[in-house]
Amino acid sequence: MNHLSQAFNDQQLSKLTLSKNRSAQSDLKNVYGRLVLIKDEAHLSCTLRFATRDETKNFSLTEATAAIEKWLTEDFRQAELFTVTEQFSLMISKKGKGLLRTRTITNREPVSLEHNQQKQRPLADRPRAYLTSLGIAGQDGQILQNGRRKFRQINKYIELISHLLREQPLAKDARIVDMGSGKGYLTFGLYDYLVNETHLPIKMTGVELRPDLVQTCTTIAQENKFTGLEFLAGDIHQYEPEGGIDMLIALHACDTATDEAIAKGIRAEAQLIIVAPCCHKQVRKAMHPPAGLLPMLQHGILLERQAEMLTDAIRSLLLEAHGYKTKVFEFIGTEHTPKNVMITAIKSEPRPAAQEEIHQLKSQFGIERHHLEDLLLEIEH
Ligand SMILES: C[S@@+](CC[C@H](N)C(=O)[O-])C[C@H]1O[C@@H](n2cnc3c(N)ncnc32)[C@H](O)[C@@H]1O
Repeated sequence: MNHLSQAFNDQQLSKLTLSKNRSAQSDLKNVYGRLVLIKDEAHLSCTLRFATRDETKNFSLTEATAAIEKWLTEDFRQAELFTVTEQFSLMISKKGKGLLRTRTITNREPVSLEHNQQKQRPLADRPRAYLTSLGIAGQDGQILQNGRRKFRQINKYIELISHLLREQPLAKDARIVDMGSGKGYLTFGLYDYLVNETHLPIKMTGVELRPDLVQTCTTIAQENKFTGLEFLAGDIHQYEPEGGIDMLIALHACDTATDEAIAKGIRAEAQLIIVAPCCHKQVRKAMHPPAGLLPMLQHGILLERQAEMLTDAIRSLLLEAHGYKTKVFEFIGTEHTPKNVMITAIKSEPRPAAQEEIHQLKSQFGIERHHLEDLLLEIEH
């Protein structure tokens, strides 16, 4: 930590990396740190690389020291600190013994904090007219105080989706459908990012029950010349995708609308399915937990959480049974939204054993039906 403090205070810290996970199951894969100036003060800006997303946190020296000590105790066994003149490599054995090696570096560039700009959010580099129309930015294009949270969420979604697209790239002219697109916050953001930032021509459709929202979104799309983006009024259940679906998104689509969306994605053999479920009423009503669990589930909130876990676990297993590799994780802090569980599914091979696992879960919790299962049966027959 002395080397870290000195490099930090002398502003000679070029790079810090933490690696070699203590547990293969850990979601946090690496941490990368570099010095940045925030309000004229040096900070260590750390990118936390999780399995499916990156998170950036900025620390003062004291905070950085505490965070790194914690990471090295709980998460990682290797730290590399590069200064302008030296490289310090710390390896911690399984017994907790640290071995520090030092190497002299000859031609590393001097650290320039002015150039170490904060990592830009995907949409943060310039004003975008649709953000003004959506009430997230003001007339001058600057993000409004009360639009910041939404803007952060949109950027987070885009970061996450761009990570997934590295694993499962979309072809030119791919078809993306956003089911339950609402006011279109993510729909516009993702379309703009893919088409105008990554220069990937795609066709995108927002499907939304409320015609007033569809009308507003259509107008905004036209004003912004988003020619590959359309909004359709209607129920997900009735929606028949023209030309298939390559990537399906459904964010906070209410209750079983998430199931309707997943079923459409599976039927269309979409390469990617990304859903952030909303309320979980159907399973909660259908659930008859075993007597042994009743003391735990006597409180409404715990019963609700149990229903959420079951609903989403069964969704993920059904996706696996139908040929998808899934991940279920928290995509954003609860301070942004309490509905922060995301299920991502990438087309892969079916996992037949998942059917038996679903059967076991259902019988344990006395669930006779799960809406997604019913929809998939409809498709099969
Ligand atoms: C909570 S909003 C989320 C909107 C948007 N996805 C977002 O994350 O900002 C859910 C939206 O889904 C729409 N919706 C719910 N059920 C639907 C269905 N069966 N078909 C189409 N839209 C639906 C609602 O009208 C609402 O606008």
